[in-house]
Amino acid sequence: MIHIAIDGPSGAGKSTIARLVASRLGYMYIDTGALYRSVGVSALKRGFDPADAQKVEQMLPSIRVTLGFVDGIQHVYVNEEDVSEQIRLPEASMAASAVSALPAVRRFLFGLQRDLAAAHNCVMDGRDIGTVVLPDAEVKIFLTASPEVRARRRYLELTQKGNAVDFDQLLQEIIQRDYNDSHRAVAPLKKAEDSVEIDSSDMSLEEVTQRILAIVRARCGGTK
Ligand code: DC
Repeated sequence: MIHIAIDGPSGAGKSTIARLVASRLGYMYIDTGALYRSVGVSALKRGFDPADAQKVEQMLPSIRVTLGFVDGIQHVYVNEEDVSEQIRLPEASMAASAVSALPAVRRFLFGLQRDLAAAHNCVMDGRDIGTVVLPDAEVKIFLTASPEVRARRRYLELTQKGNAVDFDQLLQEIIQRDYNDSHRAVAPLKKAEDSVEIDSSDMSLEEVTQRILAIVRARCGGTK
């Protein structure tokens, strides 16, 4: 199996790029952020604070998170309920960031991620894929962009969907999430030593995709 790990802070374009790279290679795209989001949303639905370690831990045995693919698009299910849309709501982002700091949650989702990778050539994006989940991935990319560029991208994405959002608030949330994700004790966001860093601030999606495909070709030879 060939595995491509794409890590980096929120809003760097990981999911769009990972999806493009996967479709060009004919690999499965696995969005691991969606798994953390589904746990965060489950906590919110039960009406408790996603940062409450004890309550979240107690909840875990009662939820079963699975991934499915509908027309090649990843859907996430919690106990058979499709939560793919709910996990994209703004409150789900903060809830995901909170639950992702809990070791029990990371252990809970680790097996699922490893099982998917064992069975498929895949492009997996997240925060700790190259460092923890797939330390032997053939290709590791650390994708970044400045906080302002990331906030602008998120702003455009949300306003295009008709959501009323405040740019400064988005920027503050991104800075806060970066801080949370890189300072937590377990699996913090950090660049794997053997990863290639790409700053996408001034690059188009196609440029980033081509750069990654070139790295895949160089590392994996005739793969594509
Ligand atoms: O990539 P995203 O914005 O959907 O991720 C949501 C949250 O989940 C983010 O705050 C960090 C966390 N996360 C993580 O800790 N590890 C991963 N592999 C993926 C996401």
